[in-house]
Amino acid sequence: MSKKINLMGSEVVKGFECKPKKLDPNKPIMFYKAIVYVCSDERCAKAGKSDKAVELREIVKELGLQKGKNRIKVSRSLCQGACRFRQVVQINSDSPNQKLWLKHTQKFSKEDWKELFLKLANDEKVDKNLIDMKVYE
Ligand code: FES
Repeated sequence: MSKKINLMGSEVVKGFECKPKKLDPNKPIMFYKAIVYVCSDERCAKAGKSDKAVELREIVKELGLQKGKNRIKVSRSLCQGACRFRQVVQINSDSPNQKLWLKHTQKFSKEDWKELFLKLANDEKVDKNLIDMKVYE
């Protein structure tokens, strides 16, 4: 059986996708252009029919954005305190889309996600129709 190697070049623990066999605290973390926090807490998770983080990671891979200088990282979060807008996704990026809150993402199509990820990767402003959640400052 061949060894599984993660994106950082480390051998992976059997049964895991990226957990390295040898932990090296001095190894740098991977750069990412944007990090997408998918709320997977109880109320948001109920709004979606699938595991949103898994679904989004597949789309990121389809676009080839799981590695390289435009890498998009998808991570789960606990409650983000905006349950009434479930299913909530928050995106942090150093692009023109610095802090985005997405609401009702269970209604987004695969094409919506592709458009969004490509805009993040290319430093383009995301369409306001996708991000019309009101944020009090
Ligand atoms: S459970 Fe998702 S914002 Fe509260």
